[in-house]
Order: sequence, then structure tokens, then C-alpha cells
Amino acid sequence: MINHRSPEFAALLTRTLEGVKRALYTQNDVLFFAASGTGGLEATLVNLLAPGDYVLGVTIGAFGNRFLEIAERFGVQVQRLEYAWGDPADPTDIDRALAANPALKAVLVTHNETSTGVANDLQAIAAVVKRHNRLLAVDAISSAGALPIEVDAWGIDVLVCGSQKAWMTPPGLAWVVVSARAWEAVKANPAPRFYWDFAETKKYQDRGQTPATPAVSNFYALDTALSLMEKEGMERIFARHRRMGALTRRAIKDMGLELLATSPRHYSDTVTAVKIPASHDFKQVSARLQSEFGVVVAGGQGPLAGKILRIGHLGYVTLHDVKHCLNAIGAVLGRPLPFTLR
Ligand SMILES: Cc1ncc(COP(=O)(O)O)c(C=O)c1O
Repeated sequence: MINHRSPEFAALLTRTLEGVKRALYTQNDVLFFAASGTGGLEATLVNLLAPGDYVLGVTIGAFGNRFLEIAERFGVQVQRLEYAWGDPADPTDIDRALAANPALKAVLVTHNETSTGVANDLQAIAAVVKRHNRLLAVDAISSAGALPIEVDAWGIDVLVCGSQKAWMTPPGLAWVVVSARAWEAVKANPAPRFYWDFAETKKYQDRGQTPATPAVSNFYALDTALSLMEKEGMERIFARHRRMGALTRRAIKDMGLELLATSPRHYSDTVTAVKIPASHDFKQVSARLQSEFGVVVAGGQGPLAGKILRIGHLGYVTLHDVKHCLNAIGAVLGRPLPFTLR
């Protein structure tokens, strides 16, 4: 490791900050924390909100629930807008809820719900929240860097990212993107925080440091990942994810399998959730995928345990990898596909 209070680290921090900003189309402040994505969610809530504040909590699955649960643990009053797992959020419901309750200070929402393979229409949601002049905090942990997000143009107040997904970096680094409007709320918020304090983090970052020891090795990895991303170009990265998502869904349908996601316009291009046929057992399927093909899939969370398998197709992944994974699933489920791998 290098000295994290050295000019070398300051240069690394500046480079990664600028790279992340370019990928997210933002001039807003980016604040890094040594944490997993959940740390970024908690950081957002303790800086933006105080016990007793009212928020609209939109949830379409397990990670949406987590965001709201953290808020509730900190004493925030969450008015829940819940959807069935597999469905997207409807911006008109958000519109109605905000119109009906002026006390709602902010909206909490997950962009891409990793537990169900559904991507909310973040741009439409952001437009509604802006129209009502409320704050918008977004969990973009499984979308940022893979799906288009224009933080400034869409008016997102806090966007939470985690290193281990589209950013192709080991777990352990979270960051939040904070708008000028969010800063006003943060500065006026008397609720206590220490490790997660946005203002303290910004104060140090402005001189090329972090308040506590940063995850130095993750910054090296992120720096390398950002140069790969820069080389590929964001538009091409988005297109690659669209192709991987479309190919996965087409193959799943060709195999006669069913997606969990109900709305084609909201299919996630970073993760696909597939219903497991009644004839098969998830544990056996996943064990065979791993031992015979070296393919690791995820299972369902909460009520979906044993009912779905999830294919991640984001970050350091190619169409070739996706085809290999789909061939393996076809073979294990006895529904072979005609993909040839070159
Ligand atoms: C949408 C979303 N939110 C939150 C998390 C939690 O992130 P972490 O496990 O890095 O704390 C994840 C992790 O998969 C996620 O996909």
C-alpha cells in the first residue's frame, strides 16, 4: 500500500473521482467510503434525513426493502409504496403520493432491483420527484456504470454506487453522488453521524484525502476499471449490456422458461431472474452448473428462495460468457440451446 496521506494517493483519488463523474454524467460531488453498497445506503440516509422526517419509500423487491428498513431503523417515517416482486414502480403512483402528502421530504427508490431483474424507469421517476420539488435518493448499486444514468440532467439528489458490480472492482468501496440541493438538506440536518459524515468526507477529499484510512487497493482497481471503461466508451458499454440482456431473455424464452419480470419495458439489462421449472430443484441445478460448467448463478431471496435463479450479466462480462452460461443452463435443465461458442 501507499501512504494514503501522500501526493500519490491524492492523484489516484482525483483520477477516480473524475472517472466516476464522467461515467455518471455529473459535476456533482462524489464521496467515497470504505464500505459495501449497503454502507452507501446508510450514509445517504443518516446525512439526508433525521428521525421523524417523512419519506416516500418505493420498493419492488429485496433491496428496495433493505433501503427502507435502514431508514426505519434510524427513526425515519416511511410511507411505503410497494409492488409485487417482478413488477416495476409506476411513476404515476409516486406522483399521486407526493401530491397527496406535502410532508414527504424525499423519495427513496432502487433503480435496478437485483432480486427480481427489474429496472425502474429512473428518468421518469426523477422527473416526477423534481416536479414536486422533493429530494430523490437512488440505490444504483446494480445499475450505475452499466445502464444509462444522467445524474445531473435527470436531477438525482443522491445516487449510491458499489464497486463490485458494473465497476468491475473488488467489493469494499461505495460512493455517493450528492447534488447541491442534497447538500442544503445535509447541512441543515442535525442528526448525528461520524464515519458517514458527508461534509467531513468532502472536506478531506478536497485536499486529496479521506477522513479515515481509505480502501487503497480498491482505488487502484477502480482506476484500472475506469480506464477500461473509458476505452470502451459509455455508449458502447450501455449497448453491450443491452445486447447481453436481450440475448439472455431470448434464450430463456427459447428454452420455454419464464422470466420473473412482468414488464418488457422494464427488463433489467444487468440481471435476469428466471423461474425454475417445478421439475427441478434450485440447489441441484446450481450445484451442477458450478461443478460441470464453472457457472455460478444466484438463487432467489426471501419469498423467492428456491423459486428462481438469477443470471448476472454486468461489468466484466462478454456475450461469449453469457452464451456459455445459457448453454450450461440449457444442458442442466435438459433444454439445450443452439449457441456455438467462438
Ligand atoms: C440493488 C442493490 N442494492 C443494495 C445491495 C447491497 O450491496 P452490498 O451487498 O454491496 O452491501 C445490492 C447488492 O447486491 C444491490 O444489488
